[in-house]
Amino acid sequence: MSFKAWKITVLLGVSVVALPWGLSHADDQKDPQHSVVDIMNATMKKGQWKKLANGEASPADAEKLVKLFDELHLTKAPHGDAKSWNEKTTELWEAAQAAAKGEPGAADRLKTAANCRMCHQAHKG
Ligand code: HEC
Repeated sequence: MSFKAWKITVLLGVSVVALPWGLSHADDQKDPQHSVVDIMNATMKKGQWKKLANGEASPADAEKLVKLFDELHLTKAPHGDAKSWNEKTTELWEAAQAAAKGEPGAADRLKTAANCRMCHQAHKG
C-alpha cells in the first residue's frame, strides 16, 4: 500500500470510529440549554453584546456571551431558512469570539452580526 493510501485508510478508520462518539459527545455537551428568547434576553435585550463590542465587558461576561452565542448557533431556526440562520448565528458567535480576544475590527464585525432587524426579519415569527 502506498503511503498516501495508507494515510487515507487511517483517516477513514479514525473518522468512522470517532463520528458516533463525536456526535453523542456533542449532544451531551452542547445540547442547547436555553431557548432563543432566553438567549436574546441574556445577550441582546439590555445591550449586553454592545459592551463586548466596545471592549467594556468583563472577561467573565465576555465568556458568557460567547457561550450563549455558541448555544444560539446550535439551536434550530425558529423561522426562515436554516442555511441563513446558520450563517447569521455562526458569524455572531465568531464575531463575539473575536471581540472577546480584542481582535482589530471585531467591534464592527460584531455590530454588523448583531443587527436586530436583519435577523428578526428573516427568522422571528
Ligand atoms: C442572529 C439572529 C438574531 C439577532 C442578530 C438578534 N435576534 Fe433577537 N431574536 C431572534 C429570533 C429568531 C427571535 C425569536 C425567538 C422565538 O420566538 O423563538 C428573537 C427574539 C428576540 C426577543 C424576544 C422577545 C420578542 O421580542 O419576541 C428579544 C427581546 C430580542 N430578540 C432582542 C434582540 C435585540 C435587541 C437584538 C439586537 C441588538 C436582537 N434581538 C438581535 C434572532 C436574533
